[in-house]
Amino acid sequence: MRVKKAIIPAAGLGTRFLPATKSQPKEMLPIVDKPTIQYIVEEAVSSGIEQILIITGRNKKSIEDHFDKSVELEKELEEKNKEDLLELVRGISSLAEVYYIRQKEPKGLGHAIYCAKTFVGNEPFAVMLGDDIVDSSKPCLRQLLDCYSEYKTSILGVQQVPQEDVSKYGIVTPLKIEENVYKVKDLVEKPKMEESPSNIAILGRYIITPKIFEILEHTAPGVNGEIQLTDALRLLMKEEAIYAYSFEGHRYDVGDKLGYLQATVDYALKRPELKDGFMEYLKKIVHE
Ligand code: G1P
Repeated sequence: MRVKKAIIPAAGLGTRFLPATKSQPKEMLPIVDKPTIQYIVEEAVSSGIEQILIITGRNKKSIEDHFDKSVELEKELEEKNKEDLLELVRGISSLAEVYYIRQKEPKGLGHAIYCAKTFVGNEPFAVMLGDDIVDSSKPCLRQLLDCYSEYKTSILGVQQVPQEDVSKYGIVTPLKIEENVYKVKDLVEKPKMEESPSNIAILGRYIITPKIFEILEHTAPGVNGEIQLTDALRLLMKEEAIYAYSFEGHRYDVGDKLGYLQATVDYALKRPELKDGFMEYLKKIVHE
């Protein structure tokens, strides 16, 4: 069955980015001039996804406004003949069919995904985490979908991470099947460095079969007292095969201040109008 729906959990409180996130969703923080969540929605659309459900919470209204039509702004740009900006603004509201649902309590990623049960129905679906932005030649989710077409079961997007970082991620016990593809033998959420089965980490992209909802309904809270998607996937693995796909591309953890700054620098250097001036500035401060 073709994967047409993607879930983007965006209910987190963004405490790592306070005070910026006191009254503003972290998903709206820009990389150069585009909110991080727009990069995710664009990746979904360019991967062939048709419907997107964003799981929001309180204080997330500006996400809905961002993907809606901006009547006053469009009128003003039209009157001032600012065609380029008008096209840019209109493009955002017609990017995709976007739906919203609120996660009423922050009970973890697994609980957020469970909120999508009715929207998803009985189809395989994608999950895209907003803290993970991937710069790649083929969109990251497209790479996973191509792998899904071959294996027709749940696929986790993974990459190797430094050993000292394994405790930040869901980690898989891999069995190599072919270039970039592993069968998942086991998985664990945020293991201690010395107990980690590998350094192959789940990095914010998943294709999951709908059976996960039956499991999530009964998944007990795990690490940090939250209902963990990784724990539910571990139970799913006992009923169906799960594969991991090592995707190509540079992944940025934009939920982390350093990762956010790295993404900002790299994306700015890709912009023709900023590249030369910004590079000159960077060289100057590095040599000072
Ligand atoms: C979540 C998942 C984790 C995954 C990570 C990727 O953790 O629970 O399995 O490896 O995203 O970024 P979080 O970063 O929300 O703590």
